[in-house]
Amino acid sequence: MIVLGIETSCDETSVAIVKDGHEVLSEITYSQIATHKAFGGVVPEIAAREHFLSIDKVINESINQAISLHPDFNWKKIDRIAVVNGPGLVSSLLVGITAAKTLSWALDIELVSVNHLQAHICANYLIDKTEPPFVCLLASGGHTQLLFVEDYSKQKLLGQTLDDSAGEAFDKVGRLLGLDYPGGPAIEKLALEGNKSAFTLPRAQVGEFDFSFSGLKTAVMRLIASLPPDFSRADLATSFQDVVCQELANKLVKAAHKYNCKKIVIAGGVASNQNLRQIIQEKSEGKIELKAPQLKYCTDNGAMVAAAGFLCPDEFGLGFDVYSRNKHR
Ligand code: KG4
Ligand code: ZN
Repeated sequence: MIVLGIETSCDETSVAIVKDGHEVLSEITYSQIATHKAFGGVVPEIAAREHFLSIDKVINESINQAISLHPDFNWKKIDRIAVVNGPGLVSSLLVGITAAKTLSWALDIELVSVNHLQAHICANYLIDKTEPPFVCLLASGGHTQLLFVEDYSKQKLLGQTLDDSAGEAFDKVGRLLGLDYPGGPAIEKLALEGNKSAFTLPRAQVGEFDFSFSGLKTAVMRLIASLPPDFSRADLATSFQDVVCQELANKLVKAAHKYNCKKIVIAGGVASNQNLRQIIQEKSEGKIELKAPQLKYCTDNGAMVAAAGFLCPDEFGLGFDVYSRNKHR
């Protein structure tokens, strides 16, 4: 089955064509990061307008790329259109959903909706064809969840952040350090030059598999206010990154042991972090296999949406499911 996936939930307009949930025939992504950088974060109204201006072009380019790379492909081969219906920015989601509904109606192709969080997990089924069951850390800009994924569309929420997500903490601390949005990649780069023991930062005491990062962000803010202006930003970036990655890795590996799982999977933008991957591997002591998407499939993309549209379309249909933050509960 060939699925065309549309992602417009935040600041990436991305359309991909994927065969049988794993073979990516094409993928075009227009990132809005350069536009939002000036504001230090995503401005929803601007995001929606940017999606509106680029969606037709991205769909056309994705179809044309599939045709040029696979001579036997043409749009009539598309069996299904999948679109993210939440969680995300309402006005941005509406652009993708409207485009998907229009295409479906005009070309008479089946339309399914996809949950954005589920799609992040599905990024692991692309190319590598990782298979459930596994314990999954889903860490993005909007969410941080620990899940036991029993099957493609069956998972149990083990814990989640009680306040800020891990990605949000990276973004906010990045801002405090004077770095560009998004903070995650910028902190990871700066942290390469720092000493992780230079500063002692607090770790939240929360439930067994829950997280809390808002106190950490406040601690960084207070620390900066108490330091001389020429303090080492690299040292603080490394110390902060280490606390976040240790917290995420500790609970992920602990959950894998508790659920007797020999495979752990990471997903979402924060999963691109190499330090996180390394710490998880160290803590796994060679007893648990770590699976992670290719870097380009960690952050938002249409390919993961197409994979989800094939493997686990949303049971709620296109009922504009923007409130599905706790979908996995
Ligand atoms: O999954 P994603 O693209 O969008 C959401 O669904 O939210 O994740 C974006 C988040 C941002 O907060 C960004 O700072 C973070 O992922 N991120 C990273 C890295 N790359 C992206 N965080 C840490 N290290 C990275 N290398
Ligand atoms: Zn995302």
